[in-house]
Amino acid sequence: MAKPLIQAVPPSLFDALKPQAQDPLLALMAEFRTDKREGKIDLGVGMYRDASGITPVMRAVKAAERILFETQTTKGYMGPEGDAVFVDLLKPIVFGDIFAKNDRVVGLQAPGGTGALRLGAELIAAVSPRAKVWLGEPTWPNHRPLLNAARLAVEGFKHFDRAAQTLLFDETMGALTKAAPGDVVLLQACCHNPTGADYTMDQWRAIAETLAARGLVPFFDFAYQGLGDGLDADAAGMRLVLDHVDEALVGYASDKNFGVYRERVGALYVVAGNARAANAAYTQALALARANWSMPSDHGAAAVRLVLQSPELRRDWSAELDTMRARVLANRARLAALNPRLSAVTRQRGMFSQLDVTPETVTQLKDTHGIYMVGSGRINVAGFRDDGEVVRFAEALASAG
Ligand SMILES: Cc1ncc(COP(=O)(O)O)c(C=O)c1O
Repeated sequence: MAKPLIQAVPPSLFDALKPQAQDPLLALMAEFRTDKREGKIDLGVGMYRDASGITPVMRAVKAAERILFETQTTKGYMGPEGDAVFVDLLKPIVFGDIFAKNDRVVGLQAPGGTGALRLGAELIAAVSPRAKVWLGEPTWPNHRPLLNAARLAVEGFKHFDRAAQTLLFDETMGALTKAAPGDVVLLQACCHNPTGADYTMDQWRAIAETLAARGLVPFFDFAYQGLGDGLDADAAGMRLVLDHVDEALVGYASDKNFGVYRERVGALYVVAGNARAANAAYTQALALARANWSMPSDHGAAAVRLVLQSPELRRDWSAELDTMRARVLANRARLAALNPRLSAVTRQRGMFSQLDVTPETVTQLKDTHGIYMVGSGRINVAGFRDDGEVVRFAEALASAG
């Protein structure tokens, strides 16, 4: 008689799994939502907010969405490159006219800045798996996980002195000196998250010269163009570096400067030594995109494309972006004028600053005053609705000691 087949019991895939700790920022947002106090202030949020406390759909984007609704005739598949016209129209905004026409620069649409950075990281890992990525910290909390998920080794260096509220430029230069040729340096092009501490043009020049001399590859995270000093001003440091080096990557987010966060609109640009290498990098990036998300979602990029294609909508977008930036800068000036401890925020740019406050003070501000900020001391200066809230925050901070 044939023996019965012994069936191997497959090990359970999920039984031994432990739940991940909740992201502290999401937990904070949930706590804010359930707080019943009048006059609570949300400085923890990672998005632009207007004076009524909402993240608005920009006028030009709304108009473009209306056009899309009326005129779009198909929702058929695109390709892994996404909306190539969107990528092309964005190029001169990102790189300036000279670089935009350069055939060493190629780009493809990606799901937000995150998708662009992940794609760039995977491209680096595919062509140079041993390259280390040098990363100034503190930084956007997703940088390390994202780079590690692409199997890249990360080496941190200190970007910011919180007590002195100054950028640690010597640490940057020290890291660039230690890095091996072929290593990658991740640099936030402007509006540094979470510190607001950006390099000066002199510092960018020194970085550019050292990158070029040592054969290092800059990988720009360009997520907040236009929210610091203006579209061109915010790109100036990056463009200066690109003038010096042969190769670079740019992970770009349109989510913030077009206010289309949940639509996930971004692009990865690769700068190569010549047009042939650029095209090879482009085809590799397409293959990686295909294996990840097949193709990026279309709606947000199509709306941004329509804005950029219409001189009228483009003007309106740019004007509204100017207003957003002016509000951020005005809140910075008000904060600095109210409390000497906040004087550095006028030197910082973009929506974020990381204040020199203890975790106890952060808790006290939340519990006593209904003011919510990230445990690290990061505030979003666009989170204040009006002058009254700025004043309340400055006073609460003074009383918290
Ligand atoms: C510095 C930085 N880079 C990239 C991103 C990712 O942007 P996106 O929402 O477009 O993926 C963010 C988002 O907060 C960010 O702060």
